[in-house]
Amino acid sequence: MSLKKEKLNSDLNLEKIKKILGRERFQHTLSVLKAALKIAEIQNLNLKKVETAALLHDIAKSKSYTELIDIVKNSKWEPDQLELEIAPVLHAPAGAVMAEDFFGITDSKILEAIRFHTLGHPQMGEIAQVIYAADFISEDREIDGLDEIRIEIERDFESGLYSITTHILKYQLEQNNFIHPYSNDFRNKLLKRSD
Ligand SMILES: [Fe+2]
Ligand SMILES: [Fe+2]
Repeated sequence: MSLKKEKLNSDLNLEKIKKILGRERFQHTLSVLKAALKIAEIQNLNLKKVETAALLHDIAKSKSYTELIDIVKNSKWEPDQLELEIAPVLHAPAGAVMAEDFFGITDSKILEAIRFHTLGHPQMGEIAQVIYAADFISEDREIDGLDEIRIEIERDFESGLYSITTHILKYQLEQNNFIHPYSNDFRNKLLKRSD
């Protein structure tokens, strides 16, 4: 997917994002953007905010563990102890810090979307839910059963979200990984809604 500046709703500097992310992650980011905008249109959300969150969701992904710790410590998005032990999720809180510090983003819904895009959170808003879902269903991912979830997300967003959380938690259990309470509570909340 290519993207021209004039097609953007937000005034983010794409070259700056590309430089920070590197070519491959920038391509992933564009795939997430495409998926996020499609869901956001169906859900009638603010496209500019969704676009900004999608473009910046992985902005801290190239940082080392030590750099991530440095970025998040004493920030308002400081991770809890368990998050510190799940290294792959740390780029999310660090990304929220970078979005504010390097791109001047102050909108709490955008920052929240970046902050929780890896673990999810039971209290996160619709924009955050869209980014969480788009990051999973984006066209660059190849996961068993993903085509069905892509269709489900468009037909019934909450039901699709539930399928995503279930898929992720099953995978984490199979891998014998930690399950963060945010992810578990998010799935439980979606499960209650579908009763
Ligand atoms: Fe990410
Ligand atoms: Fe991502």
